[in-house]
This record gives sequence, C-alpha cells and structure tokens, in this order.
Amino acid sequence: MSASEGIVQQLTRIPFFLKLWSRFPLGPLRLRVEHGIFPYPHYAYGLFWAATLASRLGIERISAIEFGVAGGRGLIALERAATEISEATGVGIDVFGFDSGEGMPAPVDYRDLPHIWGAGFYRMDADKLRKQLSNAKLVLGDVRTTTAGWIAEQHAPVGFVAFDLDYYSATVAALQILSGPPSTHLPRVYSYFDDVTANDLGCMNPYVGELLAINEFNQRFADRKVCRIELLRVHRHRWERWQERMFAFHNFTHPQYTQLVIPTDRASSQLPLA
Ligand SMILES: C[S@@+](CC[C@H](N)C(=O)[O-])C[C@H]1O[C@@H](n2cnc3c(N)ncnc32)[C@H](O)[C@@H]1O
Repeated sequence: MSASEGIVQQLTRIPFFLKLWSRFPLGPLRLRVEHGIFPYPHYAYGLFWAATLASRLGIERISAIEFGVAGGRGLIALERAATEISEATGVGIDVFGFDSGEGMPAPVDYRDLPHIWGAGFYRMDADKLRKQLSNAKLVLGDVRTTTAGWIAEQHAPVGFVAFDLDYYSATVAALQILSGPPSTHLPRVYSYFDDVTANDLGCMNPYVGELLAINEFNQRFADRKVCRIELLRVHRHRWERWQERMFAFHNFTHPQYTQLVIPTDRASSQLPLA
C-alpha cells in the first residue's frame, strides 16, 4: 500500500468520510473502485476488472450488459462508469440494457417468486430514459426472445453482466448470453446477480429465482460455470452489501482462460525474503 493509499485508508475510518467522498467522488479511478465510491459500486467493480482483464488479454473492446433496466438508474450508472473506465484502461466499452420496456411480464410459476414480484412492476419510460443516455443501447422486448437475437448479431465480447430481472424464467433466458462461442465472451465474465437474496417475506432459496437459474446453467455445461467470487471480502476494505452477489462466469476451455494476466515483474513473481 502506498503512503497516499494509507492516508485514504485512515480517512475512511472517520465517521461520514465515505458519505462525503461519495458526494464528491475525487481521486484516482482505481482507488474509488477499491473503496466503492460510485453510485453502483458493484457495477464499477465488475466493469473495472472486466476492462482490466480485456486489456491484459490484448482485447480492445468489450460489451457490458444490464438485464433488467426499469427506470434506468443502474444503466445510467453503468454508462457513466464505462466512460471513465474506458478512458483509464484504453478498452472500448459498449453498454446495453435489456428490458421488456413494459415492466415485469406475468410470472411463469412458483420459481419466479410470484409471492414477491408480479406483472407490471417496475415500468420504464423508454423515451425519457433515452434522453438521459449518451451511448448505451436499449434492447427492448422479452429477454426470452431478444437475448438469442443479440447473440446472433456481431458484438464485442461480453465482459460484464448485471442480472436484475428478478424472475427465474427471465434469468434462464438471459444466461444464454454466456452460451455462445468463446469469441462472444471473455474467458471470465464478471457477473452481478441482484436477486440471490430477497426481503424477509421472500425467503430466498436455491430452488427458485436466480439461484435455480445459475444451478441449471452449471449443470448444463461441463466446461462453463457461474460461481460466486469466493471470499471477495478479503480483497475489499470493508464489507459491502453487494459482495455476496458478485459472481464470475468461467469458460474453462476458452482459448485465453489460462493466459497469464498478472504482471510478471519481480514484485509479483518473487516472494519477499523473510
Ligand atoms: C428490478 S427491475 C430492474 C432494476 C434496475 N436494474 C435498476 O437497478 O434500477 C427488473 C426489470 O426486469 C424486467 N424484466 C423482468 N422479466 C423480463 C423479461 N422476461 N423480459 C424483459 N424484461 C424483463 C422488468 O421489466 C423490470 O424493469
């Protein structure tokens, strides 16, 4: 840790410092990603590391996707983070937001948790949202149709995905985004799942919702898995609500999965002398 990073670390112990810093988000990008000084810190974290991974692999452009846009707060945050992260890493980032445009469709069965979510929740005003976006593209329609259509088109490989569709049925469809050939995704795709938890009346469990969709995806492929990033807390300065919702997709047979992405300078390749 550098001296200035140490000072920042000390400052974060002062009550309200983090709130103040979030209000006036100054300082280097990496430091703000590490301390979660973003409106959607989980999006900034996933996208920063996706772009860093792409840069280390020599990939010039990636796609970043939010499944489930609603009013657009998350997509706007993703687009803003993408602009900054792209400038800092030199990796181009195309941002896409998938949504019905008409709020939640009807739940299919109990696996969509109709005791928590229902048809018409989270409506979008697409015209209003478009005016607030600069480059991000809205992909409107039911993801059970639009996801397959998007994969069939030519896009930069997917590097970050936020899954926030609430339903099991929609998440199964959205996960198709990771079922294409290796050229359509990075070997590891940072993936945020918003709904692996629910409110106290929801009683989330692995047999419904996003967790079931993830389990089924993992059973379907021998060489592709979506897994929680283990012990993410260890690498963060403090516990944050989103940490248990941060996953990574792995394509173990991706041609670049085993490519070294850690800098090979002396500091990282040699253990310090005792
Ligand atoms: C909780 S909201 C998303 C909130 C947003 N990510 C944010 O941070 O502000 C869930 C969204 O998923 C969308 N959705 C659910 N099922 C869908 C489906 N089958 N196809 C398209 N969109 C769907 C709904 O329209 C709704 O806007």
